[in-house]
Amino acid sequence: MSVLIAPSILSADFAALGDAVARVEAAGADLIHVDVMDGHFVPNITIGPPVVRSLKRVAKTPLDVHLMIEEPDRYLDAFAEAGAAMISVHVEVLPHLHRTVHAIKALGVKAGVVLNPSTPVVAIEEIAGDVDFVLVMSVNPGFGGQTFITRSESKVREIRALLDRTGNHQAAVEIDGGIDLHTAPRVVAAGARILVAGSAIFKTADPAKALRDLRAAAERALPASPVR
Ligand code: DX5
Ligand code: ZN
Repeated sequence: MSVLIAPSILSADFAALGDAVARVEAAGADLIHVDVMDGHFVPNITIGPPVVRSLKRVAKTPLDVHLMIEEPDRYLDAFAEAGAAMISVHVEVLPHLHRTVHAIKALGVKAGVVLNPSTPVVAIEEIAGDVDFVLVMSVNPGFGGQTFITRSESKVREIRALLDRTGNHQAAVEIDGGIDLHTAPRVVAAGARILVAGSAIFKTADPAKALRDLRAAAERALPASPVR
C-alpha cells in the first residue's frame, strides 16, 4: 500500500469549504478528512451531517469522517447517508465497540477505530481483526495546529504489528495530529499509510504545494520493496 494523504478541512476556511476541497483534490489528495466534534467528548464544536452532505456533492475523493463525539451509534446512519466513505469512532466512548464497528460496516462504510494519545494499544486487541483501519491520535483531539506527541511513532509500530498478528494485513494505520514534513517520514517508516494533515496543508500560502511536498516526504520513507 502506498501512502494516502488526507487533508483535514478543520484548518480550512469554513466559508469556502468547496474551494478548499477542490484545491487539494487538484493537488492529488486521496481522501478528505472531516472532523466532527460535539463539545462533550472534545472541547470544540465543528460540523455535522448536513455539512458532510454538502461536501459529498463537491468532493471527488472519499470522505473520511472522524467522529469525536459521545454516543456515535446514534449518528452512524446520518453520516453514512450524508456520504461518508469511512467512519472512525473513538474507543474511549464505546463499551460495545464490536457492535459499533459491525454497524458501520453494515452501512457499507469502512470502519475505523481511534485511540487517544493516552489510550493503550491493548484497548483494540479484540477488535483488531475486524476493522478496516485504525486511527492513531498523535495529539489530544479537539484542535488543529498542535504539536506531535512523539510516543505516537512507536504506537503506530505496535498497532501495525497487532493488525499483522491478527492476519488483518489489509487494514491501514492512519495518523492524525501534528503531521508535517518532519513527522510524516517518521510515521510512514513506523507503518502509517494514511496521513491526516490540517495546518501543514491549509495554513500555508500554497496548500497545493504543501500537499505535494508532504506526499514526497512521506513516500521517500516507504520501504524499498513494499510488503503491503
Ligand atoms: C484534531 C483533528 C485533526 C486536526 C489535525 O482533533 O482530529 O484532524 O485537523 O490538525 P493538524 O494537522 O493541524 O494537527
Ligand atoms: Zn481528525
